[in-house]
Amino acid sequence: MHEVFIVVFCVFAVVVEGWAHTTTVNRCIHSGGQPPLNAFVHGCTNPPCLLPQLDDLIVDVTFATPRNISEMTTLLTASFNIGGMQLNVPVDLGQNARTCNFLTLPPTCPIQSGENAQYRFKWRIEPFIAVGTQANVELSVVDNDRNNEVIWCIRLPIRILPPE
Ligand SMILES: *[C@@H]1O[C@H](CO)[C@@H](O)[C@H](O)[C@H]1NC(C)=O
Repeated sequence: MHEVFIVVFCVFAVVVEGWAHTTTVNRCIHSGGQPPLNAFVHGCTNPPCLLPQLDDLIVDVTFATPRNISEMTTLLTASFNIGGMQLNVPVDLGQNARTCNFLTLPPTCPIQSGENAQYRFKWRIEPFIAVGTQANVELSVVDNDRNNEVIWCIRLPIRILPPE
């Protein structure tokens, strides 16, 4: 009886640990595409995610690979609600847009159909993004070989805080 309890407790602990590394994200509206298998915004389980200036926004994503993929691009769009109008602003990610350079599993492209790939997105919150800014951001990865078809996309509300 004792052993059964311990085993059940351990399984429960592992499951809870798994949940702790998930962020509740929304389906994208502007970019299209489906959510990935899992997304974890560091320091944020339940959005809005509060992002201090000068910190890195870090998002770990696990996604299924629907086909062989040799080249991908990461896109970030910020949507602002201005008097009921949605204003969608693409964010220039520079080198961080090169998805294949930031895969953690497999270490780089190509990724093969049927593999679950892991990817870490990192982006510094520059101080020109004003404290108090609120937006919905859509983070997506597109397949360059397939006319930039969206492989996955997440949407979440954020708010910018002063540096810590
Ligand atoms: C995907 O890549 C693997 C390994 O390179 C290859 O064996 C397979 O035929 C490819 N599949 C398709 C559909 O191209």
